[in-house]
Amino acid sequence: MTDTSHHPRQLERDAQGALRNLLDLREIDRDLLLQLFARAQKQLGSDGHIHHSTELSGRTVGTLFFEDSTRTRSAFELAAKRLGATVLNLDVGRSSTKKGETLRDTLLTLQAMDVDLFVVRHGDSGAAACVAQALAGRAAVLNAGDGWHAHPTQALLDTYTLWAKGVDFTQSTITIVGDILHSRVARSLVQALRILGCPKINLVGPSTLLPPWPAHPEVHTGTDLDAVLPESNVVVALRLQNERMRGPLLPGASEYFTRYGLTQSRLDAAQPGAWVMHPGPINRGVEIDSVVADGPRSLILDQVRHGVVVRMAVMQMILENAA
Ligand code: NCD
Repeated sequence: MTDTSHHPRQLERDAQGALRNLLDLREIDRDLLLQLFARAQKQLGSDGHIHHSTELSGRTVGTLFFEDSTRTRSAFELAAKRLGATVLNLDVGRSSTKKGETLRDTLLTLQAMDVDLFVVRHGDSGAAACVAQALAGRAAVLNAGDGWHAHPTQALLDTYTLWAKGVDFTQSTITIVGDILHSRVARSLVQALRILGCPKINLVGPSTLLPPWPAHPEVHTGTDLDAVLPESNVVVALRLQNERMRGPLLPGASEYFTRYGLTQSRLDAAQPGAWVMHPGPINRGVEIDSVVADGPRSLILDQVRHGVVVRMAVMQMILENAA
């Protein structure tokens, strides 16, 4: 699939400027982020339970996952169901794409059954934009992760989780550690943190897993985690995405843990009250120690829970624009 990460603006917003698709965060500004956070918060009752409503009753959400997923797929499905939508989960491995049907024909077939919104995960960067192009406005598209490119709802739920904890982004240093090179999570999170005015974002990992991008003044790349921990208010650990590495880029998992594993003593070296995050799936003893993953500063399960309410907010916003 061709990389359409420089896709035209009309794929994201309609002529009135309303959000139509969510492919990455380039078209999102601070006001829209805060509106989404406020909507997400409303979906959580004062008892912390996720609300049910019939707001999207009569609408249909189709999920198309060409890559493995546990939390993202489940969160999208639950979010749509909790808003009363009908959900169609296409089992891609058993669909007619296996019989030679093109992705475009699969999409148009499903769209002819009145799917209003497609949630797409694909291994190719730019796939979500290709889907939006193929649908040409006949249905909305939400990117649930495309290749190394973007994972916008993950960045929304990550920043929502910090916002809900009262983190002042304009006064915080956020350190993201791990396989940055292959990480669509890191790319989208950097975008969201910049929109929210974060003054310093450290991207840390072995030099073979650091990207040549991006040249933003607030973003710093480096190989020494211990050097940046003392200034860090939040530490986000990422998984080594071995499935995306072409050839060995690391000596091994235990060597990685020695230099980059998030242990209690490393967390103690960070700013007082520093938060720990991880988008999952976590590999205990590789990028994070169990004591930290399960400890009081870990927001990992909050992130999972917020994944549902943030996706409810995004679907509401998009589908009310496409009434
Ligand atoms: C991530 C993904 O698939 O991009 N996970 C997720 O969506 N929660 C990160 C990963 O696979 O490591």
